[in-house]
Amino acid sequence: MSKGRKIILAGGSGFLGRALAAQLVGAGDEVVVLTRRPSARIGALRTAFWDGQTKGAWCAELEGAHAVINLAGRSVDCRYTPLNRRLILESRLCSTRILALAIKDTATPPKYWVNAASATIYADTRGAAPANTEADGVIGEGLSVDVCQAWEAEFHRWTLPETKQVCLRVAITLGVDGGAMVPLMRLAKLGLGGKQGSGQQWVSWLHVDDFCGIVCAVIDGQLKGSLYNCASPHPVKNIDFMRAVRRAVGGFGQRFGLPIPKFLLKIGAWMIRTETELILKSRKVAPQNLIVAGYRFQYEALEDGLCSIAKA
Ligand SMILES: NC(=O)c1ccc[n+]([C@@H]2O[C@H](COP(=O)([O-])OP(=O)(O)OC[C@H]3O[C@@H](n4cnc5c(N)ncnc54)[C@H](OP(=O)(O)O)[C@@H]3O)[C@@H](O)[C@H]2O)c1
Repeated sequence: MSKGRKIILAGGSGFLGRALAAQLVGAGDEVVVLTRRPSARIGALRTAFWDGQTKGAWCAELEGAHAVINLAGRSVDCRYTPLNRRLILESRLCSTRILALAIKDTATPPKYWVNAASATIYADTRGAAPANTEADGVIGEGLSVDVCQAWEAEFHRWTLPETKQVCLRVAITLGVDGGAMVPLMRLAKLGLGGKQGSGQQWVSWLHVDDFCGIVCAVIDGQLKGSLYNCASPHPVKNIDFMRAVRRAVGGFGQRFGLPIPKFLLKIGAWMIRTETELILKSRKVAPQNLIVAGYRFQYEALEDGLCSIAKA
């Protein structure tokens, strides 16, 4: 059935945006991607130039749109130098702020404004401690948490009477075309797919099809809340996560998986200019609001999710 709605994807040229755009276009929606690189081709998608900071001709695209989905932000897969810290924070705050101002200017405002946020807002949660829910989760500390808090605060600062605002705390998302799976599968194929650090840290994960499913359920009016932890209901320990990755890649990588101790991870992260926090933080998150709302995950079990990715 053709839906024919206009959906704006700010920062929609990245991993999550491309997957979501494909799903929306497949359902008959018109998608416009706001990008800082208008000459870059994003499939057959229509693009509009923005800088993520200031108003411009792009604002007219929001007029009468059904939904604005904000996925813009400098990647956190980098060294946390002072410059990168500033870019990580500012790209999220500025894009959120300028979208709010643009929505305020519309005569026919979008019905929905969905902002990506991150499940890394919760504290490092180890062992048998309960998983963090939206209602009872413990907020953590440190750079990433500070960014997440400021990002959400900026989003909630705005009152837009005709636009439903929904914040998605997204867990590490697994898919074929980007995100964490690409380097992890590469490592596993090389025989380096053993546990990372102690292997006891929890990994909360989400299949990219469920990310798309959740956004679609929000903008279709099936999910009526304003905050959702977007993670599979079954977080796993890193040792089990990596075992499942090895099984999914098969062959040499399945038979041989060298564990990587913390000190080697630190050296490796420094060499490839990233941070170990992405791997070593223990992330235990429960999608309580999605479960209560009756959202049906396409991939609840890690093995099924990884199998679909490995086969693709
Ligand atoms: N993927 C995950 O596992 C995951 C998990 C939790 C949260 N998230 C959050 O979800 C959002 C989308 O994730 P993703 O994986 O799709 O990220 P991505 O692949 O890095 O895409 C993000 C997009 O943001 C735009 N961007 C980058 N720097 C920017 C800046 N300084 N100002 C404005 N826009 C900028 C880029 O678009 P242009 O270059 O075209 O402008 C880029 O394509 C991000 O905010 C991310 O933090 C992702």
